[in-house]
Amino acid sequence: MKADVLLGLQWGDEGKGKAVDVLAPDYTWIARFQGGPNAGHTLWLDGQKIVLHTIPSGVFRKDCQNLIGNGVVLHPPSLLAEIRALQEKGMDLGQRILISDKAHLITPGHRLMDQAQEAAKGDQKIGSTLRGIGPAYTDKYARHGLRYGDLAGPDAMTRLQSSMNTHRQGLVALGYPEPDDLDAQMEAWMESLQTLLQEFPPVDGSWLLNQALDQGQKVLAEGAQGSMLDVEYGAYPFVTSSHTTAAAACTGLGLAPSRIGDVYGLFKAYCTRVGSGPFPTELHDEQGETLRRAGHEFGATTGRPRRCGWLDLPALHYAARLSGVNKLIVTKADVLSGFGEVKVAVRYEGMSSHRDSYPNQQDACVPVYRSFEGWSLTPGKNYQRLEELPATLRAYLTFLEESLDCPVHWVSLGPDRHSTLQTRH
Ligand code: GDP
Ligand code: IMO
Ligand code: MG
Repeated sequence: MKADVLLGLQWGDEGKGKAVDVLAPDYTWIARFQGGPNAGHTLWLDGQKIVLHTIPSGVFRKDCQNLIGNGVVLHPPSLLAEIRALQEKGMDLGQRILISDKAHLITPGHRLMDQAQEAAKGDQKIGSTLRGIGPAYTDKYARHGLRYGDLAGPDAMTRLQSSMNTHRQGLVALGYPEPDDLDAQMEAWMESLQTLLQEFPPVDGSWLLNQALDQGQKVLAEGAQGSMLDVEYGAYPFVTSSHTTAAAACTGLGLAPSRIGDVYGLFKAYCTRVGSGPFPTELHDEQGETLRRAGHEFGATTGRPRRCGWLDLPALHYAARLSGVNKLIVTKADVLSGFGEVKVAVRYEGMSSHRDSYPNQQDACVPVYRSFEGWSLTPGKNYQRLEELPATLRAYLTFLEESLDCPVHWVSLGPDRHSTLQTRH
């Protein structure tokens, strides 16, 4: 058995939470492999909106085990609050959430450093979610970090103290005021961590997943952020601090490349981005505003308005190539309903096609658009078969399949589980 991977091909918020929830009944394991509480994965269940940040999106399927993998960075108070919020809804989480012993911890110092570094950057700020992601990964790679399974070790408290001192010095160097209650924050942080450790003892995630695959169980690796925010392949430095492409599912879960099966690549029928950085197809006009309103494009984690624009084929092709995507999922096709004309950037000026090498500097990219006739969906109608969709939407999907040389596996036509139309079996 091989593990499948589901990831976003744009700048995040492609609808990964919904997609994982829809696919989860086919899987025994859903495993997050990177990122942390910068993610906001939205699910609509019985008219209720739920946003998950660190918990994998299979948690609402009672037969799914949900692993927070070693590649994730986790903030104990936020994760505990997320767990408690689900329990308050009456969910019995039992043994369904597992946390890898090697997942790194985000401390209050990391969050403060994130704020201080962003403030110091002024106009050049990344537009980070301020959740401490960058500093936590920095410490991981600088070998100053602390992992979920480390607390039992003899030197854990010394390492934590030393990390706190380093962050304090960092704040001073950046001229950022240390909050008066930092010690109290640290105490509350430690309490949350201890509660989590008691209720969710650290596990060897890699061993569990490999054993599950050996026993014929199905595993779906859930990505966070999007391919264009990858620390290596995104528009550096306007990226997140983890790898968001399929390769990260291997390192972030302890799976060998030979154990990876299907790679689902998700994208909206248009584009959005939250935070700073290049966005070649961004619409700065009324159309961008209309897209934002129609798609409710406001960040699930920070509430910030998302920047909106047309679909970007060179970026999509690049992202699909980086991850070896073999199944596409198109989301939010309903949002474009009523648009008389829909555009797609088919290449950038100076490129012969979207298949050219992707430019390293995207600020100067000028998109060349192709126009499509729009479509109108009937509100409230539950589309079940491809043939029921307007011909113009079908033409749009066929164009995308042919351009990306990859089948569209299903199309999402609304935020809830049921507004999903499987196009291929
Ligand atoms: P994620 O981070 O990739 O999980 O995506 P987010 O949850 O941040 O943002 C996607 C938003 O679009 C959420 O509000 C979803 O409820 C919503 N959504 C997902 N799929 C669809 C869809 O097909 N149509 C519409 N209208 N909304 C969708
Ligand atoms: P999901 O999983 C959209 C963006 C931030 C910022 C940059 C760096 O919901 O798709 P960070 O806090 O990671 O240091 O911020 O990355 N970003 C996201 N944008 N969706 C996300 O996650 C994101 N996670 C981070 O806005 O531009
Ligand atoms: Mg999101």
